[in-house]
Amino acid sequence: MRHLMSPLDFSVEELDQMMDLAMDIEKNRDKYAHVCDGKRLATLFYEPSTRTRLSFESAMLSLGGQVIGFHSADSSSAAKGESVSDTIRVIGCFADIAAMRHPKEGAPLVASTVSTIPVINAGDGGHQHPTQTLTDLTTIRALKGPLGNMTIGLCGDLKFGRTVHSLISALVRYPNIRFVLISPPELRVPSYIREDILDANNIPYEEVIRLEDALPKLDILYMTRVQKERFFNEEDYVRMKDFYVLDRKKMALAPEDMYVMHPLPRVNEISVEVDADPRAAYFRQVQYGMYIRMALIMTLLEVKVC
Ligand code: CP
Repeated sequence: MRHLMSPLDFSVEELDQMMDLAMDIEKNRDKYAHVCDGKRLATLFYEPSTRTRLSFESAMLSLGGQVIGFHSADSSSAAKGESVSDTIRVIGCFADIAAMRHPKEGAPLVASTVSTIPVINAGDGGHQHPTQTLTDLTTIRALKGPLGNMTIGLCGDLKFGRTVHSLISALVRYPNIRFVLISPPELRVPSYIREDILDANNIPYEEVIRLEDALPKLDILYMTRVQKERFFNEEDYVRMKDFYVLDRKKMALAPEDMYVMHPLPRVNEISVEVDADPRAAYFRQVQYGMYIRMALIMTLLEVKVC
């Protein structure tokens, strides 16, 4: 039995196979409509979510399976003090696979160690968000072709943004990837990402403050929101929240074939006027998220298609 805690839990070859499967699902929805008949997914969300939870639920329903779960700690027995270890043991009696989002780093990992069913980390604190990374890799591959030989700009809250941490970890495994890390000094990428991942793998990167300086050299711009829920005080958040706003004027500095991605939700960091730009890919990214989660569920449940 396999779990997904980090994008590195799968080899590059396995991820390629999963992305190929996602692309086949996109083209042949009917072929996959009953492959999970009789299977049940539990979504255990201790933190708010729109995309990840509903994308998982939609993925399982689209495969013919069923869905159970809770959408907040308050509506589960966590409110009475139940541990994630006890909860996942109980859920194993009801479901075949579980997706867990939790505000504490490592909570899904703790659950996976005692679970009788595959557990998927659907975001743990400021740590990792591996299924967002699968979504991002699938989107980049669909937009730009094979992964590698690209300059990726990551902009915004690089300190608390778990999607950024997961994406950097995953992308360094591909050839000739360069990063431009665009953030205010207070929200720089954590030192463990710089030292243990970027430096350790000899990945070229630069850190800049101005988005305008980075835009002309990018193949992908990955915008992120400032993570309000991870700040210790409101004042710091208010000071940082509108540091970057991508608008039509800034998009004029970007190459014609540069795509803009965002894990969403967005707050103010991408002006709605950018939505009409053909390079705005963030809603397409959401769609790819559902297909890759379908492929992930099939992979972890070892479902084969005849
Ligand atoms: N991208 C993402 O994780 O969105 P949600 O918080 O809405 O799930």
